Amino acid sequence: MLKHSVDNRIFQGLREKMEQGLLPQWIFTDPHIYELELERIFARTWQFLAHESELPEPGSYVTRWMVDDPVLLVRTNSGEIKAFLNSCPHRGTLLCTADFGKKKAFTCPYHGWTFNLDGDLIGVVAGDKVYGEEMKKDEWGLRPIPRVERYQGMIFGNLDPAAMPLDDYLGDMKWYMDIILGRSDGGMEVRGLPQRWVVHANWKVGLENFAGDPYHVQTTHRSTVELGISPQDPLYAGYGHQVVLQNGHGINVITATAPGKPQRPPYQGLPQEMWPMFERNLNADQLKVFAKTTVFVGSIYPNLSFNSPVHGSEGHLHNYLNVRLWRPLGPEKIEIWSWFLIDKAASEAYKEAAYKGYVGSFGPSGTLEQDDTEIWARIVHASKGHMARSKDLSYNNLLNYLMGLERVLPDETFPGPGVAYPTCYLDAIHRATHEYWLELMSKEEESAGENGCES
Ligand code: FES
Ligand code: FE
Repeated sequence: MLKHSVDNRIFQGLREKMEQGLLPQWIFTDPHIYELELERIFARTWQFLAHESELPEPGSYVTRWMVDDPVLLVRTNSGEIKAFLNSCPHRGTLLCTADFGKKKAFTCPYHGWTFNLDGDLIGVVAGDKVYGEEMKKDEWGLRPIPRVERYQGMIFGNLDPAAMPLDDYLGDMKWYMDIILGRSDGGMEVRGLPQRWVVHANWKVGLENFAGDPYHVQTTHRSTVELGISPQDPLYAGYGHQVVLQNGHGINVITATAPGKPQRPPYQGLPQEMWPMFERNLNADQLKVFAKTTVFVGSIYPNLSFNSPVHGSEGHLHNYLNVRLWRPLGPEKIEIWSWFLIDKAASEAYKEAAYKGYVGSFGPSGTLEQDDTEIWARIVHASKGHMARSKDLSYNNLLNYLMGLERVLPDETFPGPGVAYPTCYLDAIHRATHEYWLELMSKEEESAGENGCES
């Protein structure tokens, strides 16, 4: 039923429009598109689960979601991190109901079956009497998430056992992750818990905004300009490079400095005593890029974004990493998960000051956060009517993704990998991200026999 209501011929027409820098508004609200995204994108691509610092010792656990799949991540006694479906294999209830903690074993609240940190079933209430020998406990352990891999401490899961390795999927994004996550000794650590809040928005809008939309900064966040926190120059968030990477990923390397103007403090204003670590952990090209950068902002497809900004004034600058997961709750709703990460090697005073900067800007009550999500909700409100939902691609309902198309050419001198354009006011990542969306969405079911024969 579903597969026939989103006919592949629609994707054919879409491809043509996307090549022209146009995108129909209904892809952000259509319920059939959303259902297909769950099957063709979220059941096949790598999704972020946690940072390894959230699971510091054997028995540490956190609970997460891969869209609608509840996930229990555990550090086992051998130090390995395992991920299971957080659903009891007896009758299916949610096994672990806490967000995080430390345990030796997990006991189900329904009938009391108990599982160890490796997911093995180790206890069945009155097992000998009610089941007898026919009960093979080793067949009733927790169900593992098919693939769990990590890079620079970031743990990702994949529901598709045949998915490409995470290393290949991230591709050249790893070069930039090395700078953002691996620059200092000991890497990064999560401070506090991930904050969560629900927003009326489509997941692709959050992704777009962080992946490739520095253009909105001067208008959406106008109040920061009026308060003197951001520069008056309307082009400031565009100075730097927008880099298109493989598999729908992209990053903006923002210098926020007009050509010919004095450079901002190097290395995102990080304290000078940390610089020797950067030289130890990064190569010459990575140092060259990092030294000039004020903000890194981008996305790892499909629903992980990151923002590494600078807050404060000269002499009191603070940099941190905010990682965002856009968890879809439907075509018009997302749950935002937001982590604060900081260099493990930074001083406690620096970490505290940076955390305050994060809470006031990109935390759930932060000024910048409020600005963005209000606009995203209005996209949903304005996209549900007859005109916006029309599937007629000749009808005048196509959105504009034209910025820089065929006008801005790649800068071959940029030291980092990927296709780097010499401005961040550009729709190049948007176009590449949506082209990847289309590629995934138009791939037929590989296991049609299983659930692809509905009509
Ligand atoms: Fe978990 Fe019955 S549902 S023990
Ligand atoms: Fe914003």
